[in-house]
Amino acid sequence: MSTTLVPTSYVPERLPPNLPNEACETDIATIPLVAEPHRPDWQPEIPDAYLDLGPDELRERIAEARARLGERLVILGHHYQRDDIIEFADFRGDSFKLAQQAANRGDADFIIFCGVHFMAESADILTTPQQAVILPNLAAGCSMADMAQPDDVYASWDELTEVVDTSRVVPITYMNSAASLKAFVGRNGGAVCTSSNADAVLAWAFERGDQVLFFPDQHLGRNTAKRLGIDPRSETAVWNPNKALGGLRAERVRDSRVLLWQGHCSVHIRFRTDQIERAREQHPDCRVVVHPECPEPVVDAADAVGSTEFIINYVRNGPPGVYAVGTEINLVHRLHEEVAHEGKTVFCLDPVICPCATMYRVHPAYLAWVTEELAAGRVVNRISVEDETRRWARVALERMLEIV
Ligand code: 13P
Ligand code: SF4
Repeated sequence: MSTTLVPTSYVPERLPPNLPNEACETDIATIPLVAEPHRPDWQPEIPDAYLDLGPDELRERIAEARARLGERLVILGHHYQRDDIIEFADFRGDSFKLAQQAANRGDADFIIFCGVHFMAESADILTTPQQAVILPNLAAGCSMADMAQPDDVYASWDELTEVVDTSRVVPITYMNSAASLKAFVGRNGGAVCTSSNADAVLAWAFERGDQVLFFPDQHLGRNTAKRLGIDPRSETAVWNPNKALGGLRAERVRDSRVLLWQGHCSVHIRFRTDQIERAREQHPDCRVVVHPECPEPVVDAADAVGSTEFIINYVRNGPPGVYAVGTEINLVHRLHEEVAHEGKTVFCLDPVICPCATMYRVHPAYLAWVTEELAAGRVVNRISVEDETRRWARVALERMLEIV
């Protein structure tokens, strides 16, 4: 997780005075791109003319360029995007809903995907070759996806072949992975899952095989396996790709129903049970809801667990009161703003660094740039998955869409 974001007190004035300064101590308000401390690492090639523009001017320019494109353009926004991006999203959702949206928008020539690289790749795979999917900032990646390097996964599969019958092992990749890994699972009888359908996909996998290799997020894999009645202690094992046979003995590999790739999300790994205890001490009636990328003890201690979409619905449909949330701050903050008038207060369990640093790289300057380029007849930052990868990754993604 980068620490490039400016620590300062964040919106405590919008919370009732009895709440701790817990919304998030990181300032996520948009400032001109040139002032972002680590901006040169993100994507130096954005034209200089965009660097000094403030949020108001960027807003006007995005709106104008977008109006010129009309129905030809669809903008999709993941829930973790900042407000200044979300206001332009024709559709906002978690990674599953956005994949569905992309698959259903055959009418649009251009899809600007305000999210991270693996999501834009999935959108490209699910759209036609005539449609262009654009990621405003090509440096908006995902540290978790990077933890499963394709060559490591292929090598691990080969190693597994030496100790188990891999025709009975179903590889499942979380959406948060490279397109080549989605193609790998497609070719090997597996499927993609997201945090909103991991239960169903894992159950599907066990109808087809005896074991699952789940990557890259060990926490989602473990939490999901546990919900399906699989004992995390005796029936799962963590596969470390840097060690021979994942650092496991052959018997352990054979006895494990789910092999969990040693990967994690740098945002959700930060949530801890003591944060939940503190929230409950201070707000005895608070409801705690967390994302399944959080570690198992956090998920166990929470009142509810689910994808970003689930968390939103949990708060929207819940009674008035205090909600302590274990997920990314942009979503938490927006949710608080949305439901505050209903007597609900929503705050983030992690008071210090809770934005997703790579989602944050989709600064409105990039959205203005790619939209104005489109309006001028030029496509920049297109995400294009090559044909063979696309074919098999589509198989894995379509299996996922069919399972739910
Ligand atoms: P969902 O969108 O599936 O909730 O996943 C959250 C996430 O970490 C996206 O990267
Ligand atoms: Fe990746 Fe975590 Fe950011 Fe999602 S929140 S994009 S999993 S680093």
